[in-house]
Amino acid sequence: MFNLTSYIKSKQDVVNKVIDEALQVDTHPTRILEAMRYSITAGGKRIRPILCMAAAEAVGGNASDTLEIGCAIEMIHTYSLIHDDLPAMDNDALRRGKPTSHVRFDEATAILAGDALLTLAFQILSTPTYLNKNRSIDHLRIIQILAKAAGYQGMIAGQMDDIQSEGKAVDLDELRKIHSLKTGALVQASVLSGAVAGAGAEQEIEILGRYGRLVGLAFQVADDILNVQGDPSRMGKAVGTDAEREKSTYPALMGMQASEDYAAALVQKAVQSIAMFDAKADPLRAIANYVIERKR
Ligand code: IPE
Ligand code: IPE
Ligand code: MG
Ligand code: MG
Repeated sequence: MFNLTSYIKSKQDVVNKVIDEALQVDTHPTRILEAMRYSITAGGKRIRPILCMAAAEAVGGNASDTLEIGCAIEMIHTYSLIHDDLPAMDNDALRRGKPTSHVRFDEATAILAGDALLTLAFQILSTPTYLNKNRSIDHLRIIQILAKAAGYQGMIAGQMDDIQSEGKAVDLDELRKIHSLKTGALVQASVLSGAVAGAGAEQEIEILGRYGRLVGLAFQVADDILNVQGDPSRMGKAVGTDAEREKSTYPALMGMQASEDYAAALVQKAVQSIAMFDAKADPLRAIANYVIERKR
C-alpha cells in the first residue's frame, strides 16, 4: 500500500541534500549566499520537485535523474516567494516560519537573493557535469519548459495580474487565468519537466501536462482557502492577508464552500486524466489529493 507521508519525506530528504550541496558555504559565506541559503533552507514543502520526480516515475523513468531539475525548480520557486513578499508586492513579514528575506536582511538583499536564485537555477540546468550524467535527456526542452513557465507568459504574467487586480472586481474566468499563471504554470512545468526527464512518450507528456494544469490551479485555490481558515503557526505565514489587500481570490469571489468544491472537482479531474497510467502513477494520484487536503 502506497504511503504518501513516507514518500514525501524520503523525496524531501534527497532534494534538500542536493540543494544544500548546490549552495555550499565556506567558513565566510558572502552576504548574498547567506540570504539565498536562508530562504531556500527555511523549510518549504518541496512539492514541485516531488511532483517532478513522481512524473518521471509515472512514465517509467528514474526519480534520481530529476534531482538537479527539482533543485532548480525549488530555486525558481523560492525566488518567486522572496519577491512576492517584498513591500512593493504582498508586503509579508513571515514566510516558511521565519522573517521574510527583506525583514531578516534588507530589501536590496532580498531582491538580489531572488535574482541570484533564479539565475542559479538555469546555471545548474546547463552545467556539463549534470548534462553528461544524463546524456539521453532532452535538457534543452526542460530548460525551455521552465523558462517559459517562470517568465512573462507564465508566473510573471500571473503575478502582474494578481497585483493589478487588487481592489478590483474580476470575474471567474479572469481569476482562473491569474491563478493558473502565477502558481499553476510552475506546478505544471514541474510535472512536464519530470515527464520529459523520464523519457515519457509524447502522449504521456501531454496527459501529464493536463494533470499538472489542474493540480496547479487546485494548489492556488487551496492557498486561497488556507489564507482564510488556515492555522498560521502551522503554515509559517500570515493568514487573512488576501482580504486585507483586497486580493482577487476564490473564497472572495465564490465563497468558501464553493471554493472547496471547486478545488475537489479539479483534483478529481486531474486524477481521472491519468487513469491510463498504471500503479507507477500512484504517487501523482496521492499528491493531487494532498494538494487540497494539506494544512500548510
Ligand atoms: C506557496 O507555495 C506559494 C504559492 C505559489 C501558492 P508553497 O505552498 O509550495 O510554499 P512552500 O514552498 O511549501 O513554502
Ligand atoms: C504566490 O501567490 C505566487 C507566487 C509566489 C508566484 P500568493 O501571494 O497568493 O502566495 P502566498 O500566500 O504569499 O504564499
Ligand atoms: Mg502574491
Ligand atoms: Mg503572497
